[in-house]
Amino acid sequence: MPDITQLETELTAAVAKAGDEAALEAVRVAALGKNGSISALLKTLGAMTPDERKQQGPAINGLKDRISAAIAARRDELAAAALNARLSSETVDVTLPARDAPAELGRIHPISQVIDELTAIFADMGFAVAEGPDIETDDYNFTKLNFPEGHPARDMHDTFYFPPGPDGKRKLLRTHTSPVQVRTMLSQKPPIRVIIPGRTYRSDSDQTHTPMFHQVEGLVIDKSSHLGHLKWILEEFCKAFFEVNHVKMRFRPSFFPFTEPSLEVDIQCKRDKNEVRFGEGDDWMEILGCGMVHPNVLRNCGLDPDTVQGFAWGMGIDRIAMLKYGMPDLRPFFEADVRWLNHYGFRPLDFPTLAGGLSA
Ligand code: DAH
Repeated sequence: MPDITQLETELTAAVAKAGDEAALEAVRVAALGKNGSISALLKTLGAMTPDERKQQGPAINGLKDRISAAIAARRDELAAAALNARLSSETVDVTLPARDAPAELGRIHPISQVIDELTAIFADMGFAVAEGPDIETDDYNFTKLNFPEGHPARDMHDTFYFPPGPDGKRKLLRTHTSPVQVRTMLSQKPPIRVIIPGRTYRSDSDQTHTPMFHQVEGLVIDKSSHLGHLKWILEEFCKAFFEVNHVKMRFRPSFFPFTEPSLEVDIQCKRDKNEVRFGEGDDWMEILGCGMVHPNVLRNCGLDPDTVQGFAWGMGIDRIAMLKYGMPDLRPFFEADVRWLNHYGFRPLDFPTLAGGLSA
């Protein structure tokens, strides 16, 4: 007959020593499991004489109850210790700064910001916004804009063409926003006063060219608008956009098939290795082409050049964004690098308005 007292001493010590739930469970199984030491004692009761049983029964059952209780108590102790450890390791430091609200996270891309800014400026001058598709026909992108078939000006556009369709004609990614001039004149009656911001595509890539870029086209058609109005609009736009009282602009004679006369406009800037700075230095950056809409274009769009006339321009949005915000290279605009966007991007709820400030 094993010594109950000694077994109790051993088991009590084992319970106290169990350092975690798993160790405690092992002790329980060793004592109270099917083949445990206490279970073995209980099994001996059946073979005892009634007298022996009367004496041993309460002793063995008492042992079982006390060890069970000790295990339960130890289990509670271990659970409390685990909770305490978790509480002390997961404390919240209330002196830490509060996290930004979700609406403060994320940034508006400079191109989206600049499109919002220029829309606000031109809307204030009475321009509506028109749109057209990125995938265009050769007819709208070139022919109706007075590019004769086989004319070298077509080659200058480094056009991305699609494979020919069932009709044998090749669609293309529009090389400029000017086809939307055509769409607008075909669908609206003069007086017309629209701007057309959008994506444009040419096979070209360096510091100031990317295969996808952005332009904002302007179109004014009525009975008497002339180059003087165009010049005023562009100057007022530049002053408002660059948020200065004076902008140095240079108008140079140029050629576009869809305008006559045609001009190109540069803006004064300074180019350092890592920066383009607007309004100082003696470099120039070309930002737009413009002119009086060619009579052939008016005719191609169903308008009579003897009764209506007007002007148009096409401006590089990426270029004016670079100039205004001092970004030296155009390529990172489209690399989707969040670090760049965090640095150059705009806060989501700061919507540009003329009254509230464009880029404040
Ligand atoms: N479409 C021309 C280009 O991408 C820019 C341009 C020049 C647009 C003169 C015009 C314009 O509307 O009148 O090079």
